[in-house]
Parts: sequence; structure tokens; C-alpha cells
Amino acid sequence: MPIQRIYLVGFMGAGKSTVGRELALKLRWPFVDLDNEIERSEGLSVREIFDKFGEPRFRELERHHLGELSKRDRGVMALGGGTYMEKDNRKVIEETGIAVWLDVTFSQIQERVRPDGSRPLLSDIERAKRLYAERRSVYALAPIRIVTDARLPNEIAEDIIQRVAKL
Ligand code: S3P
Repeated sequence: MPIQRIYLVGFMGAGKSTVGRELALKLRWPFVDLDNEIERSEGLSVREIFDKFGEPRFRELERHHLGELSKRDRGVMALGGGTYMEKDNRKVIEETGIAVWLDVTFSQIQERVRPDGSRPLLSDIERAKRLYAERRSVYALAPIRIVTDARLPNEIAEDIIQRVAKL
């Protein structure tokens, strides 16, 4: 059975949404961004959900919406930076498609991501650096790792297509 769903995982600022859009265009598959799905259904931004209800509630919503996405016929799904950290989420991903880790250096993240407050877990840079280090071993569980540094989204998307085709 050919792969029907590609889940992009990786730290905040790895380019999951940008690359995901390119990839979906190339494959002529629908593109979905998990954070956007949550924001749309709740009528609140991620920041507001964290502020009003706390991170555990956000994780609950994330789990729920991932479950919904995984039932779609096919698609490229850009997940949040923390989605792949949950064992249950990894199970859903593994059972319904393939995880692709977009691996980016922390310095690239710092260059790319604006400190506009939209990502609560990036507001304290030292804490974010620790989180980045802690999470790497979990992202590494993804069957495909793509090093994204300084490459164009278009090239990365091509690379993903080739890697997935070889599976
Ligand atoms: C998070 C990443 C964010 C968003 C939320 C939590 C994380 O998504 O889901 O702020 O835990 O790394 P992006 O990776 O799309 O920024």
C-alpha cells in the first residue's frame, strides 16, 4: 500500500509549513497545518490557548486534531514542534503514514523565527535551547531525516519525494 500521508516533524522554525506547502503542490496532495487546524476549531491562537488553558490543554487538542487528520484520505501534514514527542501521537503517525524529520540547527532557528510571542515555548531562549537538545533523540525516531540548513524549500521537498519513493 503506497504512502498516503506524510507528517513533517521537527523543531519550531524548521520550515515544516513552508516545505509542507511545496511538497503538497508537487504531489498534488492536500496540505494541512496542525496548529492552524487547532486555531480554526478553537477560534483562538496557539498563544491564547497556552495563556488561557495551559499547555496540557493544548496537547489534548493537538492529540485530538492529529487523530482527525490521520483519517483523511491523503495529505501532507505539518505538525507542531511538540506533536511527535507524545508516544500516542507517534503511534498514530506510524500507523497511518510516514514521519519526516526536518532537522535544522539551533542557530538557523534563531535567525529564522521572529520573537513575536506567537510561539510560547520560544520566548525564553535558554529554555528553548534545552528543549531543542532534549527533543532531538525523539525526532530521530522518524524513519526519514532531512537536514534542511540553508537549502530552499523546493529542494527539500524534492529530497523528501525521493526519500519516500525509496522506502
Ligand atoms: C510547539 C510548536 C508550535 C506550536 C506550539 C508548541 C512545540 O508549532 O505547536 O507553540 O511544542 O514545539 P511550530 O513547530 O509549528 O512552531
